[in-house]
Amino acid sequence: MNNKTKFKYQKVNFTHFILNLSLSTVFHNCERARDELRSNRERKRDARRGGASCSKHSHPFEKARLGDSVASKWLQGTITRPYNPSQDLPVPDRPARLTNVKLVSPSLMPKLGKAGSLQSRQAIVHSLVHTESWAIDLSWDIIARFGKKEAMPREFFTDFVKVAQDEGRHFSLLAARLKELGSSYGALPAHDGLWDSAIATSKDLLARLAIEHCVHEARGLDVLPTTISRFRNGGDDDTADLLERVV
Ligand SMILES: [Fe+2]
Repeated sequence: MNNKTKFKYQKVNFTHFILNLSLSTVFHNCERARDELRSNRERKRDARRGGASCSKHSHPFEKARLGDSVASKWLQGTITRPYNPSQDLPVPDRPARLTNVKLVSPSLMPKLGKAGSLQSRQAIVHSLVHTESWAIDLSWDIIARFGKKEAMPREFFTDFVKVAQDEGRHFSLLAARLKELGSSYGALPAHDGLWDSAIATSKDLLARLAIEHCVHEARGLDVLPTTISRFRNGGDDDTADLLERVV
């Protein structure tokens, strides 16, 4: 990436991608991730390495917890460098994922419905939880895959560390809501269209930004007001309120 493009990147305001929420306390099985973080001083000082370790955890609650910890340390200045210039860490083509989430082709996904029934509301929230889990992976992947390779400025790391932290919060809040609705992540099938695009753009940062964030993410934001209205019309103000706060 040349200097002109980097300058353009710095002009891009990613804050509209960042969703503001109150902090959820719904985190499971995070002790191992926290101990791992504490025991590795190098990781404390290297945002890219912290991100890479998020990709190794299959459970999105752990990813969210570890990501929140790494992000807080970066933003507070405890992690002082974005990456180790003398070390190359492998970036997995596909991050570790839960094996109990059944994946089907997008064309075979059951219809989500219009939130008029509990079954439809569960399906829609399940789909949003799945998207948020991929959003956590995508945030750390772009840091680990492109940050050092493209010698990106610190602002790039700060932007995506904040995004990763927020996506972890979104996942936790929506997964908690899914539970309140009587379901759980993995109870329904999901598709991996977001990661198909990640693989297709794994060699090109600008393509990654354009496809994942300016197409997929923007499309998600475009349909959200309709989704919120559907939950309200279906009598589920709690989910509608949550989605409004998430956005
Ligand atoms: Fe999100």
